[in-house]
Amino acid sequence: MEIKQITGDINKTEADAIILGVFEDDETNDIEKDLDKALGGTIAALRKSKEIKGKSSELTVIHTLGKIKSAKAAVLGLGKKKDFDATKLRSAMADACRCLQRKNNLKLALTLPDTGLTTYEVARVVAEAAYLGGYSFRKHLTKAADYGDLKCMTVIFKEKIEKSSFEMGAKRGEIVAQATILARDLANEPSNHMTPEDLADAAHQVARESGLKIEILERRDMEKLGMGGLLGVSQASKDINPPKLIMMRYKGREGEGWDLALVGKGLTFDSGGVSIKPSEKMEEMKFDMSGGAATIAAMGAIGKLKLDINVIAAVPATENMPDGAAFKPGDVLKMFTGKTVEVISTDAEGRLILADALGYINKEKPKVIVDMATLTGACVIALGNITTAAITNNQPLMDKVIKAGTSAGERIWQLPAYDEYRDQYKSDYADIKNVGGRPAGTITAGLFLSEFIGDTPWVHLDIAGTAWGDKDKGHLTKGGSGVPVATLVNLAEMLAQE
Ligand code: BES
Ligand code: MN
Ligand code: ZN
Repeated sequence: MEIKQITGDINKTEADAIILGVFEDDETNDIEKDLDKALGGTIAALRKSKEIKGKSSELTVIHTLGKIKSAKAAVLGLGKKKDFDATKLRSAMADACRCLQRKNNLKLALTLPDTGLTTYEVARVVAEAAYLGGYSFRKHLTKAADYGDLKCMTVIFKEKIEKSSFEMGAKRGEIVAQATILARDLANEPSNHMTPEDLADAAHQVARESGLKIEILERRDMEKLGMGGLLGVSQASKDINPPKLIMMRYKGREGEGWDLALVGKGLTFDSGGVSIKPSEKMEEMKFDMSGGAATIAAMGAIGKLKLDINVIAAVPATENMPDGAAFKPGDVLKMFTGKTVEVISTDAEGRLILADALGYINKEKPKVIVDMATLTGACVIALGNITTAAITNNQPLMDKVIKAGTSAGERIWQLPAYDEYRDQYKSDYADIKNVGGRPAGTITAGLFLSEFIGDTPWVHLDIAGTAWGDKDKGHLTKGGSGVPVATLVNLAEMLAQE
């Protein structure tokens, strides 16, 4: 897809449709007036009859019948001017692109009223919307799609703008959107096509494309290192789909040390194991590797953007299956750090594999760690699929992560992490146990992870609700969402600028 800009008159622009952004509470912009005039007063009439209100994502398609060069004018509501920001633009534009994508090689143009956003922001957000709005996962469908693809998106500016700002924004948007799409593709793949080995292969390809170092730790390496958590969870699959610990490294600055460590849960299918899950909706547990997918994809984007930062990443990848060889409730596992864990439920497996990955990456003494995981059903109950839950041991880092999320349009809500909650996972048979009961399930799961990282500043993101959506809305589409790729890239960018 081509994202470009021109300065000039909308009536001269050639496109299948020109999108005209309008505010709900501000009809005074010149561009709207010009287009309305060219269309013989249609827009004003529709405004008057309240068919065009300007509400967010409202799209009114007007056939121009030769009055202007492009065949359609699509009036896109942007909501109230005072509420407008980059997130609103991304969302409305993604909805508009999805609606208009009825034919192949579609060319769209966009013109906006005065939004207060910089040229860079407009370009970045429009690029993200153009790529993400029309996404769908069709890999295993043999039937052709009944909608087309977007070939070109032109942003029309009234006045001359700084071309390089636009190009930088568009490039940035494109890289992040493509990384998000990769994370979506990986998550949407069913587990028979996305085994730990497949996930490692995908990481290899990312590493090749983005110039990252990659290393895959095999089962025997895990045995040598004493990774009882990852080994325990993967025990039932060891001969069929053995576990992998995917390690990726990006060096963007001179000198040693890691400025950021990313750890993502790569559970390629979570049946619950011996503590087996109910079968209803079990198919959705193919997306239990979304944290790992986001980690791999974000590493690729960070490499492509050549950010001035050193980042290390770990993705523990395994299935969680029942089998004669499976680990069982009551088992005691010795983790990489030496801590012992009593298994209460084999379905609380995410924290076991993450514990080893966190302990292992912490040996490299990263300045900060961010982990992301579809960790608890409790998180979905608490926050639905709108908001990611977060836990931290370091408030300044948490504040940065939330800020990075806000500008990515990915909402994050911090939960308390008081030490009192730790009592819930005390065990009589081991140092700790892997379940802290039903109350505050997301918090105790997060605190469990903190047992393996010492004092390193850390944020845990529970993406159990946000990694997956059940409808197309804004830049989010049905299935894997790619959350929190954009947050991670923003965060890396913020840390690189420190
Ligand atoms: N992968 C699940 C969490 C999950 C559930 C994600 C639903 C998305 C939707 C995780 O491994 C799990 O099974 N957690 C258990 C923990 C419990 C046994 C303490 C849960 O939340 O039920
Ligand atoms: Mn589970
Ligand atoms: Zn799981």
